[in-house]
Amino acid sequence: MERFEVTGGARLEGEVQVYGAKNSILKLMAAALLAPGVHRLGNVPTIADVSIMGELLIRLGCQVSHDESTLTLTISVPDHLEHRADYDLVRKMRASINVLGPLLTRTGRAEVALPGGDAIGSRGLDFHINGLEALGAQVTNEHGYIIATVSGRLRGTLVELEFPSVGATENLLTAAVLARGESVIENAAREPDIVDMGIYLQKMGAQISGLGTSTITVNGVDALHPADHEALPDRIVTGTWAFAAAMTKGDITIHNANPDHLEIPLEKLVLSGAVVTTIPGGLRVRMDHRPKAVDVMTLPYPGFPTDLQPMIIALNSIATGSALVTENVFEGRFMFINELVRLGADITTDGHHAFIKGRELLSSAPVAATDIRAGAALVLAALVCDGTTIIEEIFHIDRGYPRFDEQLRTLGAKISRI
Ligand code: UD1
Repeated sequence: MERFEVTGGARLEGEVQVYGAKNSILKLMAAALLAPGVHRLGNVPTIADVSIMGELLIRLGCQVSHDESTLTLTISVPDHLEHRADYDLVRKMRASINVLGPLLTRTGRAEVALPGGDAIGSRGLDFHINGLEALGAQVTNEHGYIIATVSGRLRGTLVELEFPSVGATENLLTAAVLARGESVIENAAREPDIVDMGIYLQKMGAQISGLGTSTITVNGVDALHPADHEALPDRIVTGTWAFAAAMTKGDITIHNANPDHLEIPLEKLVLSGAVVTTIPGGLRVRMDHRPKAVDVMTLPYPGFPTDLQPMIIALNSIATGSALVTENVFEGRFMFINELVRLGADITTDGHHAFIKGRELLSSAPVAATDIRAGAALVLAALVCDGTTIIEEIFHIDRGYPRFDEQLRTLGAKISRI
């Protein structure tokens, strides 16, 4: 088991490069199943989740290869696909559920293991299932698997989501593109990842309008063709670097990033005292003093992302003043707070509210990452501890942060992988 050893005190300064968004690439990989032939995805970094999704596609009959020097992932999709996503892969990576829509619409049958709960909450699938049923599928839950079938083609219809779920919007979009007739998804998610997937589907020949709005309309086509697509930059990794600059009173220039996807988090950083400037193809974040505490509530895009909630709690832990952070997307996403408290943070929680009183320095102690974003936030917290912090379970961080420790070292952090 690898772990990080981080010695606090360094001011992070320099330049970093952001790669394609994990949350987009995994979904693009699943969407590739819709068209037989060779697809090429660009800007794909080496992260553990890309390998897991690659393995799942291979089991479904695809050939997958990743050229790490050009960041190109090539997926060759066969005419005949298998239709079962096994529990051993789905439990490792929840995005596996994204194969449900493409498999169903292409093969008439999809068997996908139920992912179970995880460290951030119960994460239901009812919106996915209700939506697919509305499109004409029969869906059952047998022996730990969702089994969805349809005889002939799915048929377009109106689906109204109770909540703008990212995963459900993606599964319904990828099911609807080959359905018969028009589908309308109301209260659809508006995340940049959805827009990215929609553009890729359009390149494949899909007819979609309303991407990036709450109403997405799809006119089903008879077949799609393979396409090449470059994944959009990872806004959560970008945000993580921005918080790293603010927390360490640092100065980081972030390349290949899109600040337009981070409007509210960057506004919060400015409120806390950071200087944020846009540069061509990226941004620069500088902080000259201890951050001021800022209140935040997480919301679906364009609101403050739940994936950056651990970072804002870590920043508030060392800020002047106190703040209230409210988590509105995942009810279990405060689990990592116990680890921050081990580092001396002064945090009390009540349901989905966390009240944080800032202190000047945190106090190093052994801690464990509970999920990918909580893990990254613990690394940031360790950078502002008074000594050396050991962070266990760092495989969570490797799921989505390419060469995190190496990039941190180039910025001046004292971090080693043991
Ligand atoms: C969510 C985030 C996404 C983030 C990703 C990874 C939101 C809205 N979504 O996407 O930005 O990148 O996690 O951390 O911030 N739900 C149901 N039934 C369903 C589907 C969802 O009750 O069928 C609930 C979930 O339990 C959760 C909420 O809806 O409370 C949002 O879920 P959803 O957007 O689907 O989650 P992800 O797709 O994982």
